[in-house]
Amino acid sequence: MRTKYAAGNWKMNLTFEEGQILFSEVTNMVKDEVVNPNVKVVMGVPAPYLSSFSKLINTDKVSIAAQNCHPEASGAFTGEMSVGMLASAGVDHIIIGHSERREYFNESDEFIAAKVNAILAGGLTPIFCCGETLEQREAGIHFDFVKGQLTKGLFQLSAEELQKVVIAYEPIWAIGTGVTASSDQAQEMHKALRAHLASKYGADVAANISILYGGSVKPGNAGELFAQPDIDGGLVGGASLDSRGFTDIAKAFP
Ligand code: G3P
Repeated sequence: MRTKYAAGNWKMNLTFEEGQILFSEVTNMVKDEVVNPNVKVVMGVPAPYLSSFSKLINTDKVSIAAQNCHPEASGAFTGEMSVGMLASAGVDHIIIGHSERREYFNESDEFIAAKVNAILAGGLTPIFCCGETLEQREAGIHFDFVKGQLTKGLFQLSAEELQKVVIAYEPIWAIGTGVTASSDQAQEMHKALRAHLASKYGADVAANISILYGGSVKPGNAGELFAQPDIDGGLVGGASLDSRGFTDIAKAFP
């Protein structure tokens, strides 16, 4: 059975004190309440908080994620963080390829593929984001575009490596807009992505890959999304900033 994920992406939000309260509340709720044992709760917090917050984790159901990394191990890259540095700060997941980084920081597919390689070489788990714009969907090229992102970012991996990757499908038109892809739209894309993985790696390998949905996931729609056969959880932005709501999302798996 595939691992299910409730992953939060806090983006550039909250002070250290605010974040500390939220992080502790979520870890305590997840520890004390009934959450499906196959669900991993991951919080992607701002980089300056990683080392400190990783020490607040009091249950193996919770992990901490960075929101970015650099593919090189060390060197003259002012302001950047290597995978080894993040691992030494207690991080075990790294979100990469988010549409905001692709757009605002001009991150290319090649650069993101290099990050995937570095994260796996460092023994951490990449949460690889992909997703189309509204224009691409309206033009009917969304399946090919997102499949292409997978080809360019992941198909350099061996089957063994690929099975250590988590994929997050985030249609850009649904991010922070309050407009969620319908569960049918999301399922349709997730199924297509799994078939694309199967075309290179075989159905057995593709069946092991967790594919999360991101884009205005909330406590009220998580249950329906997570009930879809190819949706293995969510990468949650805005709604991950509320401890009760985010924990309820983690409890929304069938
Ligand atoms: O990475 C999560 C994300 O981009 C979705 O954000 O605020 O629509 O849940 P949001």
